[in-house]
Formats: sequence, structure tokens, C-alpha cells
Amino acid sequence: MKLEELDSQLEKNQLSGFWRTRVPSHTTELPYLWKWEPLLDGLLKASETIGIDQAERRAIRLVSPHLPIKSTSHTLQITFSIVNPGEVAKAHRHNMAAIRFVVQGKGAYTAVDGEKFFMEEGDLVLTPNWTWHDHHNESEDPIIWLDGLDGPLIQSLNVLFFEDLEKPEQEITRQTGESLARMGFARTPKQDAVHRRGTPFRYAFKDTYKALKAMGPADRDPYDGTLLRYINPATGGYTYPTMSCEIQLFNGKETTQSHRHTSAALYHVVRGQGRTKVGDSYLEWRKGDTFTVPLWQWHNHENLGNDEAILFSLSDRPVMEALQLYREEAGS
Ligand SMILES: [Fe+2]
Ligand SMILES: [Fe+2]
Repeated sequence: MKLEELDSQLEKNQLSGFWRTRVPSHTTELPYLWKWEPLLDGLLKASETIGIDQAERRAIRLVSPHLPIKSTSHTLQITFSIVNPGEVAKAHRHNMAAIRFVVQGKGAYTAVDGEKFFMEEGDLVLTPNWTWHDHHNESEDPIIWLDGLDGPLIQSLNVLFFEDLEKPEQEITRQTGESLARMGFARTPKQDAVHRRGTPFRYAFKDTYKALKAMGPADRDPYDGTLLRYINPATGGYTYPTMSCEIQLFNGKETTQSHRHTSAALYHVVRGQGRTKVGDSYLEWRKGDTFTVPLWQWHNHENLGNDEAILFSLSDRPVMEALQLYREEAGS
């Protein structure tokens, strides 16, 4: 029998010979950078064009041109949301874990499992897997934030669940600040198992910034500058089992060394201007821009300004570590 005949016979029976397959390997994904100006323009136009009731969320997704799916990376997704004064983005929950990082505005809050978490520029608010959340803007101005989700990962596992609350707003059953009081300091050794998925929490930027500034040269990482991880206060581990949130500061003209790892990261520029070398390309960034550093690509960061630069980031490192797939290599 000829090989072609065998192949076609197998194919008819939904079978495939291994001699048809090349040695498998990861695909090299190219990085991408989204400038702030066209995104902001799109958000402002959307805020005039689309009523908050017309869409589940008035959000714009960052879509990498280098992926087969409509997503920011193969595991994580970033969208930006705009909520006008007086608007409420109605309550729902899903088993995608999400975060909000406030980019512009103040005076809004996200209600998460019965507690209000107020939102100001630079604050990080967590809406973990399967927590009810609705967003409210009680200020005079629109508020814009970055949403980070592990949606692409959850969808690739085909395990996505989503539920609407019957009414647009959930009931407030906890004092504002209760999560911080219970989890942020000394706390009971009794752990609530549900908190291993992540804890509804707000990390205020004023505290984060103070912590960044309190770190000295000995704390500086050769690859990441001065870096802080937003840890799950219940476990001391990563923000979520699927996603790590981090923030890093580079002093004026600071340059980091090159490394690569099997986790992919999405960066948002909070302050300053610089560039990140990913593989052979340079991504030039300034405040408001967002960019990807795909997995296993050599990369290093450079603050081109004389003032400090701050990057907020999301990474899928917890997944890679949990599955024993995390590797890291230092550049020469
Ligand atoms: Fe949501
Ligand atoms: Fe890195």
C-alpha cells in the first residue's frame, strides 16, 4: 500500500498517522503596543454613542494582531471601560477572575460581594472568580479603568460560567473597608477556602506608591527594577491562581538586564516614558500605553526619562508555576 493511500484511509476514519506531524513546539508570538490616544478617543466616543444598558459593559478590548483569537494574549485579556457620571454597570458574576486598575477619574466604586470599593487613579480593585460585581460612578466626571481578565484561559478550558443578578444592583451588606480591616493586617488563622480563588480587595495607590518608594537599592531586581506583587492577603500567594498583578518602578534612566520566561505579561504605563526591547523589536511607551511581552522572548526595560517610570502588569505566571511549566533564563 502506498503511504498516501494509507493516509487517506486513516483520514476517512478520523485518524492521523504521527508521521504527518512535525516535532511540536510553542509558537513564537510577536509583541504589540497600543497607544493611549486612539484608545481614549474610542472610549470617549463610545461613552456618547452607547448607553450603559445597551452593552453588558461599555468596554473596548485590546486585540493583538498576532493571535488566532480576538484577545490581548493567549491567556489574559485587557479591556478599558468608561462609566459616565450617574451610571451603573449592572451586577453579574463569572468564573473569570477580573481586576480593575483605575486610569483616570475618581469618585466611583465597584461593589463586590456586598462591599463597596472606592476607585481612584492608580487603585487596584479585585473582583475574583464568582464574586458579584457592579460598577457605579457617583462623581461629576467619567471614570476610565483597565479591566484585566483570565478569560482566554478559561475559554480555552471551555469551563466559562456567567450569571446575571435579577436586579441591576447588589445589596450592600458590609461596611466599606471591612475587607481591609479583616484581611489587611493581623488576622484570624481560620481561612475561608473561597478566598483561595482571590479576595475582594482594594489596594489604594497611595499605599502602593509609598511601599514602592520605601524600597531601597537592595530590593531592586536586575530584570524588573523595584517590583511589588499584589498578593492575595488570605494566602500570601499570587493575586489569583490564574493571574498575578504587579507594579514596578524604574528610576530615571534605569535600564534592566535581559531575561526570558514561560509566563506572558501585559503591561500598562502608569507614569513616565521608556522602551522595552522584546526579541528584536523596541516598544516605545509613555503614560497610558499598553503592551504585551509574549512568553519566552528575551526582554528588558529602559526608562528613557529623568523622572521615575511606573508600569502596572498582569501575568499568567501562577498558572505556569502550578502546572510545573515555569522556566526562566537570564540573558548574557
Ligand atoms: Fe464582570
Ligand atoms: Fe520579565
